[in-house]
Amino acid sequence: PRDSMAQYQFAFQENEIKLLTAEIERLKNFGCLGVSPSLEGLRDENAKLKYRLNFLKKSLQEERSKSVKSMININSCLQEIFGAAIQAAYPDLENPPLVVTPSQQPKFGDYQCNSAMGISQILLKTREQKVIPREIAEKIAKNIPANECIEKVEIAGPGFINVHLRKDFVSKQLSSLLINGVQLPAVGKRKKVVVDFSSPNIAKEMHVGHLRSTIIGESMCRLFEFAGHDVLRLNHLGDWGTQFGMLIAHLQDKFPDYLTVSPPIGDLQAFYKESKRRFDTEEEFKKRAYQCVVLLQSKNPDFIKAWNLICDVSRKEFQKIYNCLDITIIERGESFYHEMMKDIVKEFEDKGFVQVDDGRKIVFVPGFPVPLTIMKSDGGYTYDTSDLAALKHRLCEEKGDILIYVVDSGQSVHLQTVFAAGQMIGWYDPKVTRVAHAAFGVVLGEDKKKFKTRSGDTVRLIDLLEEGLKRAMDKLKDKERDKVLTPEELKAAQTSVAFGCIKYADLSHNRLNDYVFSFDKMLDDRGNTAAYLLYAFTRIRAIARLANIDEQMLRKAAREEVLVLDHEKEWKLGKCILRFPEILQKILEDLLLHTLCDYLYELATTFTEFYDSCYCVEKDRQTGQIVKVNMWRLLLCEATATVMAKGFDILGIKPVQKM
Ligand code: ARG
Repeated sequence: PRDSMAQYQFAFQENEIKLLTAEIERLKNFGCLGVSPSLEGLRDENAKLKYRLNFLKKSLQEERSKSVKSMININSCLQEIFGAAIQAAYPDLENPPLVVTPSQQPKFGDYQCNSAMGISQILLKTREQKVIPREIAEKIAKNIPANECIEKVEIAGPGFINVHLRKDFVSKQLSSLLINGVQLPAVGKRKKVVVDFSSPNIAKEMHVGHLRSTIIGESMCRLFEFAGHDVLRLNHLGDWGTQFGMLIAHLQDKFPDYLTVSPPIGDLQAFYKESKRRFDTEEEFKKRAYQCVVLLQSKNPDFIKAWNLICDVSRKEFQKIYNCLDITIIERGESFYHEMMKDIVKEFEDKGFVQVDDGRKIVFVPGFPVPLTIMKSDGGYTYDTSDLAALKHRLCEEKGDILIYVVDSGQSVHLQTVFAAGQMIGWYDPKVTRVAHAAFGVVLGEDKKKFKTRSGDTVRLIDLLEEGLKRAMDKLKDKERDKVLTPEELKAAQTSVAFGCIKYADLSHNRLNDYVFSFDKMLDDRGNTAAYLLYAFTRIRAIARLANIDEQMLRKAAREEVLVLDHEKEWKLGKCILRFPEILQKILEDLLLHTLCDYLYELATTFTEFYDSCYCVEKDRQTGQIVKVNMWRLLLCEATATVMAKGFDILGIKPVQKM
């Protein structure tokens, strides 16, 4: 169907335009389209249509040459094929259901198309035609266009179409993966993606909620970057607000010479608590704190300096965490938007959206019971104002195509109201720009209550990371790894396991749920944990090394050897490896990273099944000498490891050579 574009050149009649539209949609789904041309206005302007057709053909050619190197999303590929088959079988069915999934059992083939049942229902409902799904399935099967991936299809049960993939197709894809590395199919136009994550508050504790945001956000950025997008990573620090009045007032008292001598604030939390206590109990202090806010907001240099000093203390603390976890992010806190807030308020006023309530300026957004407060009665701005300003800046200045807010579920109403306000005032159209709250649940302790230390305090993140390190080392020593690894290797394994496990534990749970933080669970090397996967990975990488096959030999073999997939377990593993793009492309849609973890776990266990029943290297029983190397199997090991490594990279986990 890709080559049939030429036939649409004179597609000016209604029906052809419909076909073309469907074709483009399918190509977009297939992920092989360099542009997503808008089809508006297509109906009436032939010239435009011609232009677009040429444009499309050109980009199709480009994509085709590119796609030789990138992996294929087999699921989308099959969807394209079945889409065409359904279209041919039932040309006037609008939006027929297109369901393709990997089969759970070998006897049901490799993939299944389950559209027949849905189509049968539609025919019954909209046309009162009673057609049994099996008959529909047969009609679809008869209309499958020529393609390179399907060996045969079978109709099973009430109307499932079981798809058997061609061995040579799968084998070629695996070779290409080994030669070209892991590359996603082109995702269409390169998009600007803005990710708001981590975002702790100055002078307050960076807590486990921020840890979740940091871990999930970093991983999301890596995924979008890998998919070829341009990602802006923003730390929306809580660095502005009335709390700075009391902090500065307290700073003036405690460190009167702060302008010349850097104040040695060791514990900013304690400093915050002290100033808060004074604010609540000392009238004089409270008054002065308010004056400080005014002076800070008027950008008095001394006060800006004081503010900066305080921010710096927090910044350094945050940076320690980011360094440990290998987080890349740029700071663009609430203060960054301060100058824009006046205009934001004015814009809402000019467009008639503002009501005054008890001196406050509020904005009601249809569908949301609680209004946004864009100006307080004292003239100050709020969290709502800064988020509106940030939204506008990201849309209109940064020109973001996709904005993602990795923020706890507790702020869902706030963010949804802000987003809806942005649409109401005309900053963006959700059909064009995607603005998403990637919400996540709370972190619980093993007692299923809010995550606290034994004494009931909030857990300091840095302590948590340190405990992770300690526990990882204990575990490694338990397994007597200290006896076989050099001190450097041991240390590398320790950090890899500790931080890898903390990240993975978070990422492997559906972010929408609350999750129980348990060192014991995350460091267990059985089950779906980073510890297990890291061990599995090092073991896979060691197979070729122990057979004295180096990278160069593998690379050469990848070009020359055919990957035989005759053994049932080779076949299963090969298909599993190739599902990687399908998994990632789904996450780009739903932003649920745990599916990547589930996939990696499945890949590792599928690998074990393969390894248990297929010899990669055959040795003499007596001497232990290598008598035969089954190169194509080593290539399967290598392909598995390559995909795992990429998966780890997206999750922000660093594997080590030896463990
Ligand atoms: N600083 C906020 C908090 O700690 C999170 C900010 C999230 N991002 C945003 N644009 N509102 O709760």
